[in-house]
Amino acid sequence: MSRSEATPLTSSATWQALAAHHASIKGKHLRELFADDPQRAARFTVEGGGLVLDYSKNRITPETMNLLARLAEERGVAAQRDAMFRGDKINVTEKRAVLHTALRAPRDAVIEVDGKNVVPDVHAVLDRMADFAGRVRSGAWKGYTGKPIRNVVNLGIGGSYLGPEMAYLALRSFSDRNLRFRFVSNVDGAAFTEATRDLDAAETLFVVSSKTFTTLETMSNADVARAWLVGKLGSADAVARHFVAVSTNAKAVTEFGIDTANMLEFWDWVGGRYSMDSAIGLSTMLAIGPEGFAELLAGFRDMDEHFRSAPADKNLPVLLALLTVWYADFFGSESQAVLPYAQNLARFPAYLQQLLMESIGKSVDLERRRVDYATGTIIWGEPGTDGQHSFYQLLHQGTRLVPVDFIGFLAPLSPLKETHDLLMANLFAQAEGLAFGKTLEEVQAEGVAATDAPFRVMEGNRPSNMIIADRLSPRTLGALVSLYEHSVFVQAAIWGIGPFDQWGVELGKVLAKKIIAELRDGAEPKLAHDASTNALVTRYRKFNGLV
Ligand code: F6P
Repeated sequence: MSRSEATPLTSSATWQALAAHHASIKGKHLRELFADDPQRAARFTVEGGGLVLDYSKNRITPETMNLLARLAEERGVAAQRDAMFRGDKINVTEKRAVLHTALRAPRDAVIEVDGKNVVPDVHAVLDRMADFAGRVRSGAWKGYTGKPIRNVVNLGIGGSYLGPEMAYLALRSFSDRNLRFRFVSNVDGAAFTEATRDLDAAETLFVVSSKTFTTLETMSNADVARAWLVGKLGSADAVARHFVAVSTNAKAVTEFGIDTANMLEFWDWVGGRYSMDSAIGLSTMLAIGPEGFAELLAGFRDMDEHFRSAPADKNLPVLLALLTVWYADFFGSESQAVLPYAQNLARFPAYLQQLLMESIGKSVDLERRRVDYATGTIIWGEPGTDGQHSFYQLLHQGTRLVPVDFIGFLAPLSPLKETHDLLMANLFAQAEGLAFGKTLEEVQAEGVAATDAPFRVMEGNRPSNMIIADRLSPRTLGALVSLYEHSVFVQAAIWGIGPFDQWGVELGKVLAKKIIAELRDGAEPKLAHDASTNALVTRYRKFNGLV
């Protein structure tokens, strides 16, 4: 297809209708939209999976949502969703089923891949995880010198790191405070050194988390960790008591020197960024215990069920996805901020960056066509209220339209109720301020001089979603993650792109492998990169006395 030819998506009547509708309402202010419809807040508030979504502060009317829902219908979202839950091989580029939803299926569910029910395997692994976590948490599992485990270090990157770290931080008030958790992902040795500098090796357990067990960063850190442990404890026999592996690749785990008895498996139908509720969540289970982990899974399941059964106009993941498409493709928004008003969700935006950007940062659709619409918004964020003293200025008065997902909890996690009132007041105030702003008249009515007033005007009309739950708990966290997983799925279905591969990260890996050899050997091989890369490699070689 030539690049000038429109894709079926953008040439569809519904897309065209959305474009025309956008032209007619883009000048409308949220002040007007709220004034015109006293029922607006109630009309655009839905509940599901234990979460409330108030999406009334978006630049939409009922017609917008009807058109977007029609688009979802025409793009076959419901049928694709059912195919995913059923275990069809919807990851067509890798010819795999996509069954992270099976990870939280009840014990008696039946979900088949290639004619085999995978649910008994899921629960067998969960049982093994629970057994292992129970022994570590009770102190029954002893290290090589007979001491119980006090420190857990997860070695993994991408989906084998972001979920575990995010979940640990989110749920640490539910965690066993006798255990210390560290997460090492980067191949920068400073990460490992800092994470272990104050740890007693005799009390330290390494969880090597890698779906493939071939990832350069993780394998390198695992080698470093093994050398550190053996150096400290004086025997290679110590490895068996201090290393467990989480992987789909039993052969590579054995080759590394970890007995498969100390390996917890998962399956190729679990994508890395969809794996925090698989055995990759071992560190999470060690922290919050098997019961806490079961609650986390129940939260995922709550949202799965909601996604499967709620009509589009009441379906939280569908609505979030439709709004993302609306801003990305019709308002031209480049990015979206996720701002949790919960310190413990500090790593949630980073977690979502992989989930969303690795899934839908694609420019070729499943028909192998170059898309002619924007996909995959840039996700970023920090916890409130910190962001308010940093980048919120741009959100309020900058030239860009950045839709926001606010996340808040009615109950505090700490006993400090007064501070929670302040936190929540700020949350509600920010959404209000972004939406309604402050007019020139309002600024002048405050007595601000006419010369100063323009600087203080807040034009408002900046959209946001408000996601609210009673409290941040394992169950709520599960629902929240599942909400975004399914929102990604719907976005991808509408855009017609495959969200379950990540070929884009491969090139860098291949190039790095070649350069590693060049950095370590000054004479050979000969440098054959572009002039810039050659110069950089040469600079490094010179610095290290290789040339
Ligand atoms: O960055 C690419 C990627 O393949 C991610 O999708 C994945 O989560 C990460 O690397 C880690 O992979 P693994 O779990 O196989 O070590």
